[in-house]
Amino acid sequence: MSANMEPCLEIRSLSAVLPNGQRVLRSVSLTVQPGEVRALVGESGAGKTMIGKAVLGVLPKSVRIVEGEMLIEGEDLGRLDAKARRTLIGARTALIPQDPLTALNPSRRIGPQMTDRLVRILGWSGEKADKRIRQLLDEVQIREPERVLKCYPHELSGG
Ligand SMILES: Nc1ncnc2c1ncn2[C@@H]1O[C@H](COP(=O)(O)OP(=O)(O)OP(=O)(O)O)[C@@H](O)[C@H]1O
Ligand SMILES: [Mg+2]
Repeated sequence: MSANMEPCLEIRSLSAVLPNGQRVLRSVSLTVQPGEVRALVGESGAGKTMIGKAVLGVLPKSVRIVEGEMLIEGEDLGRLDAKARRTLIGARTALIPQDPLTALNPSRRIGPQMTDRLVRILGWSGEKADKRIRQLLDEVQIREPERVLKCYPHELSGG
């Protein structure tokens, strides 16, 4: 086990608003400890997705954070510069979208979309990233990686 036992994620009193003042998030606090799995439960529109997007820094432009802190492994995102924040988020978090077909870039092939993050955020060589992606496809039993990596998102099934 890692010596770093900081919470994986800590959200403290996070609030966000729309331009008309409507609250999208109201003082949300939650902690995820290493090895812990958390589920957010709430009706449609309650703000579950917004919480995830806030952590990843990909909130819609109209949504403004007005209060609160978010920490990843003890690092306060608000205290990091943009580059350090992007590196930490890119390396230590992931969002699995509800609808993969609209979340992928429709105009780029699957391969480069998958390797990009490893190259740009983790600083891997293209070759190393490519090898890892093939390994991952193999692990989830996606056949014909050569063909799949050259496909555009619409050429693959949703699953
Ligand atoms: N792009 C956007 N711009 C402004 N407000 C938005 C945007 N997307 C969602 N909202 C609003 O933010 C609030 C929270 O939405 P969110 O998508 O986080 O809900 P959710 O809990 O994930 O719902 P669901 O269970 O349907 O996925 C809702 O009131 C929604 O109308
Ligand atoms: Mg949602």
